[in-house]
Amino acid sequence: MGKRATQTLEEEHHIIQTVVGVMAALADNMDKGMAPEADTLRNLVEFLQVFADKCHHGKEENFLFPLLEAKGVPVSGCPLGILIHEHQNGRKLVAELAGAVEAYEKGNSKENGPLCASMRGLVNLYPNHIWKEDYLLFPMTDKILNKAEQLELMEKFEVVEKEIGLEVHRRFEKLAATLADKVQEG
Ligand SMILES: [Fe+2]
Ligand SMILES: [Fe+2]
Repeated sequence: MGKRATQTLEEEHHIIQTVVGVMAALADNMDKGMAPEADTLRNLVEFLQVFADKCHHGKEENFLFPLLEAKGVPVSGCPLGILIHEHQNGRKLVAELAGAVEAYEKGNSKENGPLCASMRGLVNLYPNHIWKEDYLLFPMTDKILNKAEQLELMEKFEVVEKEIGLEVHRRFEKLAATLADKVQEG
């Protein structure tokens, strides 16, 4: 049997966690007075917008959550309502980060407050969110969906991947590793 749909989401979480570690390190470095490279910040924003939000949250919100809802899981409250709310908070923080990076690039580097604050916000949000999905949502999903349904969900995920571009997924996986190396060296 192939991979379960929930397994692919779990694997994407590992990649997202790597980038969350990068943001934590960048925010710490900034507190010590080290200025991050604009290029690193731009890559970070792109990763969050495309890989984390469009691809990963897209799979969850457009396919997994509605399927669970159809199976009788309530959309409000725990866990779906909370998870959707956290996705929305994440989007807000990423938009704030994107704005802060733009200002930073224009040389308004005295205004580092919003840059650090949005990164710290995401560092606080993500591990908690991922924990809930890995330990509550996915085990629950594996209990609710039969093999055929997991397979169907997997096929829908593959359509998302194709739409975004398979090489794009791989590029972001690499980017996460490159950013982590870079921050460690710094
Ligand atoms: Fe999620
Ligand atoms: Fe997730």
